[in-house]
Amino acid sequence: MQHPKKEQTFVIIKPDGVQRSLIGEIISRFERVGLKITAMKLLVPEAEQCWKHYNKDDAWFQTKGDRIVKNREENNMPIDKPAIEYGRDIIGQLVTFMTAGPVLAMVIEGNQAVGIVTKLVGGTEPLTSDIGTIRGDYTLDSYELSGIDERAVRNLIHCSDKPEEAEREIKIWFDEKEIISYRSINEAMLYDVNLDGILE
Ligand code: PPS
Repeated sequence: MQHPKKEQTFVIIKPDGVQRSLIGEIISRFERVGLKITAMKLLVPEAEQCWKHYNKDDAWFQTKGDRIVKNREENNMPIDKPAIEYGRDIIGQLVTFMTAGPVLAMVIEGNQAVGIVTKLVGGTEPLTSDIGTIRGDYTLDSYELSGIDERAVRNLIHCSDKPEEAEREIKIWFDEKEIISYRSINEAMLYDVNLDGILE
């Protein structure tokens, strides 16, 4: 079994995070908690890469689409296609957003990194993300606003929500040789069982 301190997650700072000069602020949240960056690159993603990343099935499109149709009905907005198509549009709009400019992709490692990063990042919709989280502190978009304007929700960042997803997503964005295995000085204090070497 792999030690929990070796868990890896995938994080991408989206074009809104890069354009709003929030790269430093966002990375510092991960660094100060004790997580380790093991890979990082600035790139303009390809549409195909983004479709692969947002690996959603018809059930997901249908559920999300049903909610959008309900919302449009409540707001007396026209409904001009089946619900599933509205669900598919979510990912189509996300791909348009993600390919609009540079993003910063990262692999982050540390004890139960997936859960820790998810907690730091906050809920997907900035409107309801907790204060103190990256999305809650640095942005203000909502599904309602992005839905009216038919664009992706601008929530600064994507992170994996399960270790299996992290493994799958990392392979889409990085070659194995781009991920660096190294020891950081911080790790002694975070994880070593015997704290030998502190006292002289
Ligand atoms: S879920 O609800 O956990 O199944 O969805 P998730 O996997 O987090 O969603 C994938 C991306 O879709 C975006 N999303 C939405 N955009 C607009 N409206 C609605 N209702 C909606 N639901 C999900 C969301 O931005 C997710 O992208 P990331 O990059 O993870 O933020």
